Amino acid sequence: MKVVAIQSSPNLDGLTASLARAVLKGVAAEGGETELVHLNRLELKPCIACDGGWGKCRSEGVCILEDDFQALREKIGEADALVFATPVYWHDLSESAKVFLDRLRRCETHGDFKAFASKRAIGIASAGGSGRGAVRALYNLEDYLRRLGFEIFDLVPVTRVSKDHKLGMLEHVGRRLVRS
Ligand SMILES: Cc1cc2nc3c(=O)[nH]c(=O)nc-3n(C[C@H](O)[C@H](O)[C@H](O)COP(=O)(O)O)c2cc1C
Repeated sequence: MKVVAIQSSPNLDGLTASLARAVLKGVAAEGGETELVHLNRLELKPCIACDGGWGKCRSEGVCILEDDFQALREKIGEADALVFATPVYWHDLSESAKVFLDRLRRCETHGDFKAFASKRAIGIASAGGSGRGAVRALYNLEDYLRRLGFEIFDLVPVTRVSKDHKLGMLEHVGRRLVRS
């Protein structure tokens, strides 16, 4: 099994990345193949809503913008499962998460095209400040993931108070992802 994790914090060794790594540790412990992608290191332009708002991706399947989007889209397509971990900014997903997921939703959710339908996803929202907004951010992340066709394996809100026990739990989630 191949699992790709995307973390959308600018801090490559921060809380969000550590949560994504915890899942991948569990996956690797069960013999799975893992890859961690730091979304903020990639060039990702915002969707310009081309073609009068409908998007050329709707008819042509590919985005007209040239950057790292298509390669990451293909990487998810080649994986069996996706882990998506975002820091909570203003009770919502991070900017880079929204830019990427907005474009992925554009390109993947028209007609009968459901490239991700057989894949499982784990969503993680890391609210390392007051802890407020973790569930709201996760609610928005769930909407993206379901709309993209993923089967939700787990949705995990994490705060400063819960992070110590959630880290262990996420490793267990990674193990179960491979076993089940
Ligand atoms: C612009 C900004 C907005 C934030 N908004 C929230 C928030 O609404 N709720 C919260 O608990 N933490 C908030 N935080 C704290 C982040 O959630 C926290 O820094 C994050 O979990 C740390 O993840 P990292 O170490 O991966 O960067 C905010 C941080 C920034 C920079």
